[in-house]
Amino acid sequence: MLSNVDPEIAALIQAEATRQSRKLRMIASENDVSAAVLEATGSVLTNKYSEGYPGKRYYEGQQIIDQVEQLAIDRARALFGVDHANVQPLSGAPANLAVYLAFLQPGDTVMGMSLPMGGHLTHGWSVSATGKWFRAVQYDVRKDTGVVDMDEVRSLALAERPKVIFCGGTAIPRTIDFPAFAAIAREIDAVLVADIAHIAGLVAGGAHPSPAGHAQVITTTTHKTLRGPRGAMILCDAEYAKVIDRAVFPGLQGGPHDHTTAAIAVALHEAAQPEFREYAHTVVANAKALADALLERGFDLVSGGTDNHLILIDLTSKAIAGKPAAQALDRANIELNYNAVPFDPRKPFDPSGIRLGTAGITTRGLKPEQMPLIADWIDRVIAAHDNDQALDRIAAEVEELLGTL
Ligand SMILES: Cc1ncc(COP(=O)(O)O)c(C=O)c1O
Repeated sequence: MLSNVDPEIAALIQAEATRQSRKLRMIASENDVSAAVLEATGSVLTNKYSEGYPGKRYYEGQQIIDQVEQLAIDRARALFGVDHANVQPLSGAPANLAVYLAFLQPGDTVMGMSLPMGGHLTHGWSVSATGKWFRAVQYDVRKDTGVVDMDEVRSLALAERPKVIFCGGTAIPRTIDFPAFAAIAREIDAVLVADIAHIAGLVAGGAHPSPAGHAQVITTTTHKTLRGPRGAMILCDAEYAKVIDRAVFPGLQGGPHDHTTAAIAVALHEAAQPEFREYAHTVVANAKALADALLERGFDLVSGGTDNHLILIDLTSKAIAGKPAAQALDRANIELNYNAVPFDPRKPFDPSGIRLGTAGITTRGLKPEQMPLIADWIDRVIAAHDNDQALDRIAAEVEELLGTL
């Protein structure tokens, strides 16, 4: 028993479980995995080394592991309707790095959405290896709409002729137009990579259009809306299977984390069930209901609302920055993160906005009719952000609601 061997860590894990249960967990990249996913993650598969792929390993004793990985691969292919799946990337950033290794030489041009506009570090942002070792050109959102302008993306692509184009990101509240990106990529013979880390669960559950058939390569984490363990996958057309597999191993990684692979397989099985479709649609319904309720209370939402699980709030009109707002909300048991908003005049470590998502609270059982209450709490917290007593009162109300679920 962990509590006998290491009572300190056991107590901390218990404390974290309690903390999570008391919070409205609205960090857009987080979720609550099922007991089944947790069990697979904590299994004896963590003892095994299995460099290579099913049927082609460098170590003995793969009779069971090969079946586990093959199941994960088959389930990923079926769920997302793709030719090939690599389930070994250790997380989202290494999955994207593998794509660079597969298709680009150092110095080649890559195009992605810039980080402050909602893209991800690994789409060519300057501080990332992807921005240092490659020539990155970055597209933005339009200032007046908060949304990507596909004509601007096309002009930039035609002028810069990147070999790889990334679409997707980490703070995009609107539907990604995969067919439009694909048309641009085709025009310049670039590889289109759809990074669906945030929306993979919505895609799997039919609540966001799929990039399958549009993007030659799809990367995703497995732990956000998809509700699996910390991990990632690369999905691709058959013609890129070999180059992707070689990039992941031996190009970038050693042994895969077989316990994670098993947990990914479990999550993919869960995501193929009818209840998951309901979950995915409720995630979006909750986000839309919350966005409406926030708008009614005078909040300024980037792009004016949401089509997915994510809401980005510009707090400038509320005369508070993102960081103190996020800290006050955390005290009130509403957990989210401070975030830059497009064209943010403030510094990244002290930006103007907050970002929140509805995947975790949907898993917890919350429904659209409860979203006005959450908007109300957020509104009250912002108004009373320096009043600890008021924040503690809201924290107690949040705990009371969570206790009824
Ligand atoms: C769009 C996108 N891609 C990649 C990643 C990186 O994933 P990880 O944190 O697992 O490396 C993230 C994580 O937030 C993300 O949002």
